[in-house]
Amino acid sequence: MKILVINGPNLNMLGTREPEIYGTLTLEQIEDELEKYAKELDRAIELEFFQSNSQGAIVDKIQSAHGEFDGIIINPAAYTHTSLAIADAISSVNIKTVEVHLSNIYSREDFRHNSYIAPKCIGQVAGFSADSYKMALYGLYCAIK
Ligand code: DQA
Repeated sequence: MKILVINGPNLNMLGTREPEIYGTLTLEQIEDELEKYAKELDRAIELEFFQSNSQGAIVDKIQSAHGEFDGIIINPAAYTHTSLAIADAISSVNIKTVEVHLSNIYSREDFRHNSYIAPKCIGQVAGFSADSYKMALYGLYCAIK
């Protein structure tokens, strides 16, 4: 079972970026934790990680997942609230997808309350810091196994 984990803009800055909101773990540490959790869940899970600050690169990556991956976990970061292009890319590939956020976007500024991506996903997890990714993986695994 192959799962693609996509992280959007500025998430490469985790660790130093607004730690009071996003925590102190780096993206690499979050990915390592998720890798360990995946192995505990089922050794058949294979994760691939991708991070980009560019909307086009994220669209390209989602398109290239078609036929290659069984599921996608995506933290689209700021593109959550702006990107019809990423939403359309998810619709195009017919791969079960879960949206993830470190912070609870619904308890923050109004402009973070809308997600273009969530309607294209089987579910959304927000507000549990790095554990959001583990919850998303568990939900996705249950949905596709
Ligand atoms: C985020 C929430 C977004 O609103 C923000 O733009 C991010 C990170 C999160 O994981 O909490 O970059 O996706």
